[in-house]
Amino acid sequence: MEKPNAPSCERNKAPILTILEKYCQHRDINPFKIFEIGSGTGQHACFFSEKLPFVEWTTSDMEENHAGIKAWIAESHQKILGPVKFEAGKDSVEFDSYDMVFSANTLHIMGWKSCKTLFKKLGKSMKTDSLVLFYGPFNYRGEFTSESNRTFDGWLKDRSPAMGIRAFEDVTNNMAKNGFFLKEDIEMPANNRILVFEKS
Ligand SMILES: C[S@@+](CC[C@H](N)C(=O)[O-])C[C@H]1O[C@@H](n2cnc3c(N)ncnc32)[C@H](O)[C@@H]1O
Repeated sequence: MEKPNAPSCERNKAPILTILEKYCQHRDINPFKIFEIGSGTGQHACFFSEKLPFVEWTTSDMEENHAGIKAWIAESHQKILGPVKFEAGKDSVEFDSYDMVFSANTLHIMGWKSCKTLFKKLGKSMKTDSLVLFYGPFNYRGEFTSESNRTFDGWLKDRSPAMGIRAFEDVTNNMAKNGFFLKEDIEMPANNRILVFEKS
């Protein structure tokens, strides 16, 4: 199979790497285990694993994306696990063996009900001090942070009314309800953010 390609991954992988480095390296855990939700093409997994060789990266997504992820993994020199079949709101994974859950550009794709189920599951099964990083666009105080995000949100809702850019306040409040405090809210290029949560 020809490897799928997401140009956005090529644009955002280097800025995301700087944040992953910051949150993985100081912990001095080897292997540092990361579970990725919604790996998509598998490009991020391959790039981050190569740059962070002390990380054991587990990919996951719905089955329709597994062939593409496998095609990327097959060309990687790193040991990358998965893809695990995981759809938030439907499938179950025990997250207790992971030091971090990472997910890019997924909260606005899965329905809000699935987001809340995911937050609950993370809260129930992740261990104290473990981290959750969500990359993507978020709204603040009911406002889009850019016109391009407003247009993107309209495009998402045309695809499915369940999709849409999530409110920062809804995500942080729901994560807090499930035992996670917001450690950092980081501005990223192209009107994206990384929300870093730690299990207390
Ligand atoms: C926009 S893509 C992002 C892919 C990749 N993370 C990236 O940044 O390029 C959204 C991904 O979320 C996955 N996805 C959609 N609904 C999901 C759900 N309920 N649980 C887990 N993943 C889901 C899709 O299959 C897709 O791979």
